[in-house]
Amino acid sequence: MLLLPLLLEATLLPLATGSHHPFYNGFYYNHIMNDKGNGQEKVVYFNGARLWVETPKDPVYSTNGANVTLPCRYHFEPDTEAKRKIRIKWSKLRDDYTKEKDVLVAIGKTSVAFGDFRGRAQLHQAGWREASLVISDVRLQDDGKYRCEVIDGLEDESDVVDLRLQGIVFPYQPPRGQYRLNFHEAEQVCQEQGAILASFNQLFQAWNEGLDWCNAGWLSDGTVQYPIRLPRKPCGGLHLAPGIRSYGPRHRHLHRFDAFCFSSGLRGEVFYLNHPAGMTLEEAKQSCQDAGAEIARVGHLYSAWKFLGLDRCDAGWLAGGPRANCGPAEPGVRSFGFPSKGRFGVFCYKER
Ligand SMILES: *[C@@H]1O[C@H](CO)[C@@H](O)[C@H](O)[C@H]1NC(C)=O
Repeated sequence: MLLLPLLLEATLLPLATGSHHPFYNGFYYNHIMNDKGNGQEKVVYFNGARLWVETPKDPVYSTNGANVTLPCRYHFEPDTEAKRKIRIKWSKLRDDYTKEKDVLVAIGKTSVAFGDFRGRAQLHQAGWREASLVISDVRLQDDGKYRCEVIDGLEDESDVVDLRLQGIVFPYQPPRGQYRLNFHEAEQVCQEQGAILASFNQLFQAWNEGLDWCNAGWLSDGTVQYPIRLPRKPCGGLHLAPGIRSYGPRHRHLHRFDAFCFSSGLRGEVFYLNHPAGMTLEEAKQSCQDAGAEIARVGHLYSAWKFLGLDRCDAGWLAGGPRANCGPAEPGVRSFGFPSKGRFGVFCYKER
């Protein structure tokens, strides 16, 4: 039973290295070393072809609601024309590579998708030795790394492809004020804003694009961080270089911070309504409803600003407080905080 530990090693290796490149797990040969007396002559019996699996090195970009193909190809060296009974398995990696979630497994023409990929994931095998995955109706949660694994008998090779959703990261602070959310509540408020908790990669990209925010917020991996472009005293100090400041992992129930939410492309449109005298929040909600829409959420407004070029210098109600996307400093969506009263216009959101 020499096989067992070897097989274990074969499945652990790709996890441990986290490599993005095709790797050799040592499994395509059976080495049989025959010492023929004098110790010089070694015979190696070659027992099969080497299997390679390849995916693109660059991330594949998509948006909310789109269909996306994650390319994956395999081949044998030396190449064999023979039909082989191949199994293909796609799984989604967690940020830390420690766990995987099954997406789809396929043998021949039969495939099964799992969890929330059911009905949305299928194999695309148009080309020779192709094992690409098509995900339809892409969701925010689909962002991340996927492993394409090809299994041919004892050979088991895989490679990883990175799916990134084009989107926007926005800090979120509830009406009750700063640092009120534990991890689970942070997940909840992002969802209420048509978004999800941002990943570190998403926050990093937002920081690259100019996000500077002096309040620490939860990320999807349970860490608490904040992006600083311009070092200053109240935001981690002057001695630190610009970057993402991290408090590291925090207790998901006991510790309270703000949230960094991530939202992607819109399935609908955002528009602005006003009355000469402005509107209360209740009147604003009604106006959107009368227009066959709903009051926009914070995530909608940020997405509209980024993807649809929405640029209005009017304050307007949103579910959760009035905002305007204009201001003296940099472009972006500005918050007025959460006055309980006041009369503003309203941003509405209408699904297409
Ligand atoms: C995605 O694919 C499905 C069928 O696979 C199709 O019905 C739908 O229109 C496609 N959506 C987009 C946005 O292309």
